Amino acid sequence: MKNRLIIGSDHAGFEAKELVKCELAARGFEVEDVGAYSTDSVDYPEFAARVARAVQAGEYRRGIVICGTGIGVSITANRFRGIRCSLCITPEMARMTRLHNDSNVLAIGGRITAPETIKEILALWLDTEYEGGRHQKRVDMIDEVSCN
Ligand code: RB5
Repeated sequence: MKNRLIIGSDHAGFEAKELVKCELAARGFEVEDVGAYSTDSVDYPEFAARVARAVQAGEYRRGIVICGTGIGVSITANRFRGIRCSLCITPEMARMTRLHNDSNVLAIGGRITAPETIKEILALWLDTEYEGGRHQKRVDMIDEVSCN
């Protein structure tokens, strides 16, 4: 389970998704790719929902969603209770969201983030362990205050 991950993107995130998949393969991850499978125009909510639903159901511990800015997929994924989707545009954001938010879905903006930065974000998001402690109460509160 630890080395399994689910990933999805729209057309604007397709190229970044291929890059992320290469990185994950090099690290020995087994990756479920739910599409999109080309740069033909599609609708990002569909693909973000596939990833979020699978993580919410416990089929995967973590997932990755990618669109042009990362915004649409993160908005969609965060509609699912229990999903803590973090749009990261710097490596430090990736490190902090694992430490403090126990992020279980990473959102990337394929058109706004340089490939080298994407690799750094991915590495820190994968390798940083959740700190727990005082952060647990706050993470629990996310679902408590949610309306859905
Ligand atoms: C697609 O053109 C674009 O709107 C989408 O990839 C994303 O950036 C939305 O938030």
